[in-house]
Amino acid sequence: MKTIKPLNLKIIGSDLEALATTTGIIVVLITPKGVMDPLAKRINKLTRGSLTRLIGSKHFIESDTGKLFSIDFPERCAAEKICVLKIERRTSKLIARKAGVEIAKMKGSVEILLALGNFANLVELCKGVMLREYKFYNHKTEDSLNLEDGDLITVMHKEPEIFKSELNEAEAIRDGVFLTRNLINEPSNILTTEEFANRLAELSKLGMKIEILEDDDLRNLGMNAFLGVGQGSSSPCKLVIMSWSGANDDVAPLALVGKGVVFDTGGISLKPAGGMEDMTMDMGGAAVVAGVLATLARRKSASNVVGLVGLVENMPSGTAQRPGDIVKSMKGDTIEVINTDAEGRLVLCDVMWYAQERFKPSAMIDLATLTGAIIVSLGHENAGLFSNNDWLCNEVLKAADFENEGAWRMPLGKPYSKLLKSRLADIKNVGGRAAGSITAAAFLEKFVKPEIPWVHIDIAGVAQTKSESDHAPAGATGWGVMTLDTLIKNNFECG
Ligand code: BES
Ligand code: MN
Ligand code: ZN
Repeated sequence: MKTIKPLNLKIIGSDLEALATTTGIIVVLITPKGVMDPLAKRINKLTRGSLTRLIGSKHFIESDTGKLFSIDFPERCAAEKICVLKIERRTSKLIARKAGVEIAKMKGSVEILLALGNFANLVELCKGVMLREYKFYNHKTEDSLNLEDGDLITVMHKEPEIFKSELNEAEAIRDGVFLTRNLINEPSNILTTEEFANRLAELSKLGMKIEILEDDDLRNLGMNAFLGVGQGSSSPCKLVIMSWSGANDDVAPLALVGKGVVFDTGGISLKPAGGMEDMTMDMGGAAVVAGVLATLARRKSASNVVGLVGLVENMPSGTAQRPGDIVKSMKGDTIEVINTDAEGRLVLCDVMWYAQERFKPSAMIDLATLTGAIIVSLGHENAGLFSNNDWLCNEVLKAADFENEGAWRMPLGKPYSKLLKSRLADIKNVGGRAAGSITAAAFLEKFVKPEIPWVHIDIAGVAQTKSESDHAPAGATGWGVMTLDTLIKNNFECG
């Protein structure tokens, strides 16, 4: 087993002389108007005007901002490649981050020197490099890997110390996103409810408080909907509470609630075999909540945020819940379990109720890989948002847009919630085939106090992708960590 340390960027001062002798790849910048900074000029001089020729080419003139050009085996340079990034000195956050992603993609196993002078968005570009430069090698044996180690990316900056401190926040975000991805990529025989709770307990070293409620505690609290989901598994249910207190005690916290189904077989309403292995990611909501809290603690956010994750495994067995069973939720409402595969809402309804009763939050956001139906609606491009509050929902949409993480609002309302009427109990856990993700959200809404601004985010389509996504290689994306971090920065920090 090999655990790869996240890429660390090495920051050095600007050094014109070093350019000739640097090996690997050197990246320099030229503005769309063809202006070179001193570092690019130096390369141009060394290579007897190859950058001047590039600037004059149709290729350069007609290409979009953010494009990378390469000049292989340049004259009088030890480098094997010079990459020229066509970009404004001041550009948008997204263009800068995207350029970073492109640089990381071409990196391979050679060293890179980013000689981007005083490019104004260098932090964001480096964030793009870091986010894309992710590998999950926990289960590859060392022999099967041809590992490149160490600081393979060096950044030249005229004020290295200042730049290092600016990069700190980007690293906090990178750490949160990587925590989320690592948890999602981990298989379910390793990441049991027990192991998940242990990994979250380790976050206390970042300065947050961790509390773990065990099976008995959940029983005493009356969380029978949650417990019913786990009763067929030999892994015990656990509710982990992560509290970050960066603001005064009298500030009501934001509550983040995550679905943490470590594996979803469907239970007695068993899922078909094809693709069932993907259900190792059914704890994606819990992983995002953990990632956000880790980022907040790492960057010492001036906010109070409490994260609650319901950890459980949905298995068929002699002790498993049956279709038709009726359970009483912590709120007191009875639920007829029509389909044991609609388990996420049964976990969330109790955890959300507990979050509101105990923490009296100023707002609540839950994240869950809740329905296959959201993938039918929105594919892998957008998470589905459902809300009882236009302000909060718009703030989440704005933050998602700012971070280039897709999100789209879906409706709620009486015509949907009435589909959950049960003949025998107060409600049933499925509403039929039509509007599957909306009736799932409508179920959750019944467990939200009307005065609490609430957004439900269905991340079933975006938590993990089969091909690479904007900021990540194939697999877990970490969708939502950046969006929620930005939401909190914009709306839930004091001072
Ligand atoms: N975990 C699944 C939803 C899911 C599907 C997540 C695909 C990621 C990818 C959820 O628990 C589930 O099984 N939902 C059912 C609900 C149905 C039984 C009403 C579904 O979507 O089919
Ligand atoms: Mn399910
Ligand atoms: Zn599920």
